[in-house]
Amino acid sequence: MSSVRVALIGCGSVGRRIHAAGLRLCPEVELALACSRSLESAESIGAPEATQDYREVMAREDIDAVVIATPNNLHREIALAAFAAGKHVLCEKPLALNGAEAREMRDAATASGKVHMTAFTYEFIPAVRHLKKLIDRGELGEIRSVRGAYLMALAGHTLGWRSTKAQAGCGVLGDIGSHLIHLCHWLAGDIARLTATERKFRDDPNSDVEDWIAFLAEFESGAVGTFELSRICPGRGADITEEMTIEVYGTKGGALMSMADPRAIWLTTKAAAMDPASRLERMEIPESEWKLPGAPRELSEGYPRWSYRYDQAFQFIRAIREQVAAEPTFDAGYRTQQVLDAALKSAQSRRWTDVR
Ligand SMILES: NC(=O)c1ccc[n+]([C@@H]2O[C@H](COP(=O)([O-])OP(=O)(O)OC[C@H]3O[C@@H](n4cnc5c(N)ncnc54)[C@H](O)[C@@H]3O)[C@@H](O)[C@H]2O)c1
Repeated sequence: MSSVRVALIGCGSVGRRIHAAGLRLCPEVELALACSRSLESAESIGAPEATQDYREVMAREDIDAVVIATPNNLHREIALAAFAAGKHVLCEKPLALNGAEAREMRDAATASGKVHMTAFTYEFIPAVRHLKKLIDRGELGEIRSVRGAYLMALAGHTLGWRSTKAQAGCGVLGDIGSHLIHLCHWLAGDIARLTATERKFRDDPNSDVEDWIAFLAEFESGAVGTFELSRICPGRGADITEEMTIEVYGTKGGALMSMADPRAIWLTTKAAAMDPASRLERMEIPESEWKLPGAPRELSEGYPRWSYRYDQAFQFIRAIREQVAAEPTFDAGYRTQQVLDAALKSAQSRRWTDVR
């Protein structure tokens, strides 16, 4: 295979700043076609061709892969069309509006034999990857508890399509909670059941979604977890300054990662972890782990709180070239979506709810 020819569908914030920017760094990749609701926006991406109709993309035999970066309500329709047309697909999170849609997408992805990836971009934070490595090596022992929070201030971009069920599926839970849930699945295994409470604090007649939700969870492994998602926290930032923290405590050690400090983790292991007076200590992650092995970006370029996001495009393209799975796949997107459904159902019924 020579150049991989990619079409970007959805040329808004994430399409432009993460996907187009990441693809441009990849060697032998051509961002050949841009598609957006407004032609002007598609043309501004700088691809040689632009269109407003994603069906035109599917009809093009010279396009190998598509990146779907539209509002959530369009992911299913576009992804199913792409698999039917024989394209590899990188689709934004949350994968769909609900679990039934996500399952249909996962099944179509699997049946197609094409590469499929969910854009859980924060899997590429060096701190998260390092934490995964420590857990897999057994340095924290058996995981007993997980504590996750993804908090942000109210930002203008949350007031548009993100504030309606029809276009977003749900509110803060799907928008940023999907990232946190996926990461905790990756680190600690899947969530089995949960009990949730939600609030819609903002008095906004145009919004019908929650802007705060929290849940207590039991993992399939027997570990327990507490989670809070909010986009009404003054001082917690928005966009590049948002804050997500994950804490993992096991029988042999404890660790904390923060999105605000992506090249370090706070850690205690070995003898220190057995001393009740010891505290987590900040540890810089080795420079060799600041990007995916082989990723084309220069470590000296870009802001550390942003640049790891470009590794996602590299992972997708490498999977296409090497004909291997592109982690996190659509199955990861589906399993996260099942947790979103369970949390919304639990918040409504005010009962413990099984994820599957
Ligand atoms: N992975 C991440 O870190 C991350 C970050 C932000 C957003 N997202 C996700 O990315 C997606 C887009 O979010 P955003 O913030 O870029 O939104 P946005 O509103 O900035 O951009 C959406 C784009 O989709 C286009 N669009 C709408 N209907 C279309 C259609 N029928 N055909 C083609 N294009 C169409 C719009 O013109 C716009 O350019 C969402 O699913 C969101 O959840 C992911």
